[in-house]
Amino acid sequence: MSRAVTSVLERNVEAAGVDIGGAWTEAFHNVRAETERRAAPLSVEDQLVQSMADTSPAKWHRAHTTWFFEQFLLKPNSPGYREFDPRFGFLFNSYYVAAGPRHARPERGLVTRPDATEVTAYRGHVDRAVVQLLERADAAVLAKITPVIEIGLHHEQQHQELLLTDILHAFAQNPTNPAYDRGWRPPGCARGNDAVDLPAGIHSIGFHGDGFCFDNEQPAHQVLLRTGAIGRYLVSNGEWLEFMADGGYASYDLWLSDGWAKVESEGWNAPGYWRQIDGAWFTLTLAGLKPVDPAAPVCHVSYYEADAFARWAGKDLPTEAEWEVAARAGLLADALGVAWQWTRSAYLPYPGYRAAPGALGEYNGKFMINQMVLRGSSLATPAGHARLSYRNFFHPPARWQFSGLRLVDYR
Ligand SMILES: [Fe+2]
Repeated sequence: MSRAVTSVLERNVEAAGVDIGGAWTEAFHNVRAETERRAAPLSVEDQLVQSMADTSPAKWHRAHTTWFFEQFLLKPNSPGYREFDPRFGFLFNSYYVAAGPRHARPERGLVTRPDATEVTAYRGHVDRAVVQLLERADAAVLAKITPVIEIGLHHEQQHQELLLTDILHAFAQNPTNPAYDRGWRPPGCARGNDAVDLPAGIHSIGFHGDGFCFDNEQPAHQVLLRTGAIGRYLVSNGEWLEFMADGGYASYDLWLSDGWAKVESEGWNAPGYWRQIDGAWFTLTLAGLKPVDPAAPVCHVSYYEADAFARWAGKDLPTEAEWEVAARAGLLADALGVAWQWTRSAYLPYPGYRAAPGALGEYNGKFMINQMVLRGSSLATPAGHARLSYRNFFHPPARWQFSGLRLVDYR
């Protein structure tokens, strides 16, 4: 659905003289419906749970994405708009200091009211107001509001992914191993372990061209790549089992100091969601507990684990520049749609980057410290959301995302 949404957006934005407002209305409906489709298998209790400070309740994701449109689109641009509930700004603002005070993130799971039904009504209230705004907008208003709608839709797609990763983490705390969707199947993946030469020399990375990108993908700029070979395929569970069998989680000398501290404090001895039952390894998936498939890409590993694995293998994680150049050259299997891939690049501004003024300037720029870049996209990313220039970022211990890796060998 979302791939179709994106193509509708791009086609209509580029085509002068078509019903731009109608195209945005359709795109808005499609993205909003995808969020509800993802939430549909969840009970009211499922929608409330918050299993750690980094995750959010599904109900909160549904309300926060709605607040985003209310706060940044409707209140500044829709004269006479009446908030659904003036208290919701405090509850559902995530981190926008410019938008006012907000509820403490680790306590989102304590908010039993509004209940899920009220959140559904909130979504309907805002949906109707957005559609009405689009219907009444002349060309000048459309030019002003469509960039806000566009970022609001891409923002909602990001939360669609988080809705799945967060509920899987919650289910992983449940001894009965619940399934989000028993019919869910992992994506098909290419299999192999050969490497391909990196195109050495000067290349351009970052977003350039038409269409949407987040501000952190710009400015495009030149990078210098040295010679080396990058894995065509993602690292597999089978390779990870070799790492484990060779004492990977018990060898301090393979780990960064902070990573080894996590191994000890968290008791890590396998990727996230892996459980050993009668000697066999299983993993909790969106379809419930399944045997670990040695041929499938490893998933739910932290940066610390990816880094230790690379050291054990006598190789390195690629830089984000190496990843993007190789992906643009078509050298990488499963670059998108399976697992985000850790790079060894710190999440920093590209040369010349400046955050936009105002609240939406808080979207990416203020997080450019103490996190690592992941490239690609995952099985939970809405189709059409990611790009080869897309920069995801998480703290090094994080492993509740669908995160894996590929390696680079400088020989
Ligand atoms: Fe958000």
